[in-house]
Amino acid sequence: MTLSRRKAIALIGGGTVLAASASAAGFVATRTPHRALEPWRLAGGYADPRQRALSYALLAPNAHNRQPWVAELIGVDRIRLHRDPALNLPETDPFDRQLTISMGCFVELLKIAAAQDGYTAQITPFPEGGDLIVADIVFSQGAARDSLADGIMDRRSCKEPFEDRAIAPDLVAAIEPYADVITDPALVAQVKDLTWKAWVVEATTQSTMKESVDLMRFGKAQINASPDGIDLGGPFLEALMLAGQITPETQMDPNSRSFQTGVEIYREMLHATPAYAVLTTKGNTRLDQLEVGRRWLRLNLATTLAGLQLHPISQCLQEYREMSALFEQAQALMGRDGDTVQMLGRLGYGPQTPQTPRWPLDAKLTNA
Ligand SMILES: Cc1cc2nc3c(=O)[nH]c(=O)nc-3n(C[C@H](O)[C@H](O)[C@H](O)COP(=O)(O)O)c2cc1C
Repeated sequence: MTLSRRKAIALIGGGTVLAASASAAGFVATRTPHRALEPWRLAGGYADPRQRALSYALLAPNAHNRQPWVAELIGVDRIRLHRDPALNLPETDPFDRQLTISMGCFVELLKIAAAQDGYTAQITPFPEGGDLIVADIVFSQGAARDSLADGIMDRRSCKEPFEDRAIAPDLVAAIEPYADVITDPALVAQVKDLTWKAWVVEATTQSTMKESVDLMRFGKAQINASPDGIDLGGPFLEALMLAGQITPETQMDPNSRSFQTGVEIYREMLHATPAYAVLTTKGNTRLDQLEVGRRWLRLNLATTLAGLQLHPISQCLQEYREMSALFEQAQALMGRDGDTVQMLGRLGYGPQTPQTPRWPLDAKLTNA
């Protein structure tokens, strides 16, 4: 039995796995792409505990919102979790590192959701040795609830400028068990410079920018039709799209107004960052990457519960030729003792409301 990869997962043989309710903040009510938001609106009310857990897991953070997971229900207690290679990101993620991390986020969320329901999810990573069969997960009764579960419905990757204030020391201390937290102003400044330069490299490298633009969903109809990728929605943007001012072509043209607006939005956002969270690993195996995904998910739930916002910014960690110098700098700056820097995120105080649209142009241009 194979499940599809959307925020709604259809079960072959009947039924659909959808996730629990959340706000449609960011989309004006009349423009809400209802179908794309459905997973948050519908509760995980399924008889099968695996389906209930999946209905939460599919809300996991994931690179470029590719939702690369495919689940197979086997027997009465097992899920075989696959990664769909059709959703690879060959330009920005040529070694599928970020997609494997994304699978780790899914696995951990599944485990926490199962425990919330009283089930232990026993995880065997990469059971066949390859990297596309990501895990076998066996459910059995009896598990202690994980308090991080309280953050599931509010967790988001916050793609907004953060407030210009240092994170309270007690909150830094609360987050430190989950990640290396960078608050030292000199180091923060260096990382900021690096993340900005790396963003510019990605946006001005034809192949990597095209990969993102190809994944942009322009307006409500496209978002509903393909509730993955990077969504550009909301009344203001839709008006600009109708006027022909935002198109895939303008997004690719560094001289266009919409491209320049995007640059300004990112410049402001990336610079409005008081701290960073970093995850590193000793090695860089598939298992390391999966484990980092699991840690990132826990970190993101912890930041959510701490009232902080977290925003992955992966450009300087990406492995393609044009990025190589900045990649090396990032590793040297944040990887201790030759460790691999796997995840880097902006950390700070941001808008408290969970933000549903996945693309900062939306909220920012609406206010412009
Ligand atoms: C491995 C990984 C890398 C990511 N890199 C970026 C990034 O570079 N920039 C960004 O804005 N979001 C990044 N994200 C966040 C995703 O865009 C986000 O998880 C996805 O759109 C779903 O949104 P949500 O986390 O708010 O549910 C990354 C997420 C993961 C798991």
